[in-house]
Amino acid sequence: MRLDEVPGGKYPFRVPAVRGLVSAGELRFDTPVTLIAGGNGSGKSTLIEGIAVAAGFNPEGGSTSFNFATRPSESSLGEHLTLVRTAGRKPRTGFFLRAESYYNVATEIERLDENGFDSYGGVSPHHRSHGESFLDLATHRFGPGGLYLLDEPEAALSVQGCLALLVRMADLVESGSQFIIATHSPILLASPGATILEIDPAGTIDRVPFDRAEAVVMTRAFLADPNRFLTKLMAG
Ligand SMILES: Nc1ncnc2c1ncn2[C@@H]1O[C@H](COP(=O)(O)OP(=O)(O)O)[C@@H](O)[C@H]1O
Ligand SMILES: [Mg+2]
Repeated sequence: MRLDEVPGGKYPFRVPAVRGLVSAGELRFDTPVTLIAGGNGSGKSTLIEGIAVAAGFNPEGGSTSFNFATRPSESSLGEHLTLVRTAGRKPRTGFFLRAESYYNVATEIERLDENGFDSYGGVSPHHRSHGESFLDLATHRFGPGGLYLLDEPEAALSVQGCLALLVRMADLVESGSQFIIATHSPILLASPGATILEIDPAGTIDRVPFDRAEAVVMTRAFLADPNRFLTKLMAG
């Protein structure tokens, strides 16, 4: 993926991830799963949304055939990105799941699908919990050869749910799908064979091994001794 031009200092071009992309000139997603990590505000959502727009998805989320808008808050980054397919094959299908707007996507699924929600496990996503409906989507609607852009899917999921998603992702990768996922979840960061791109506060985008990803390091330190960790933290 390439950034074509740099139109100055306003949002989204001062977001750390976008500054990192500007100085790198391009970002490569050369494994079937790429995980984008980094602190709150580092620009993960901005980046995922920009890729989604450049790939032809509705910026509010959904498949490429979804074309609805509630309040336009997506950035203009996507208009400046060029996606280059190294495998040379256009994705057969796909889905963009924006962290903030799953409710709107669920409403659109309900509106479009009058055939008993076959692609979603037979139940309207409004009649399932957030996590259940997300796993319905991944199980029934995600398919081979797709491009899946997910923004913090762990927001909906229990630990078991994250593990179920990892298993489903591995199946879909086997059948030629690609995932780009913004996540804070140490479980999702453990996706086998994935590339982890971590955005630091200055905007540098680094490839890091699982054991050095900040979410993994911090979670390990916390879980090793929660009381001690919290006592230190609260003592400032
Ligand atoms: N529509 C917007 N207009 C202006 N600033 C925004 C907008 N959306 C996000 N930002 C800012 O851009 C930065 C990166 O946001 P975001 O991509 O959501 O970060 P992350 O997903 O990594 O937490 C934040 O500082 C946020 O306040
Ligand atoms: Mg975000």
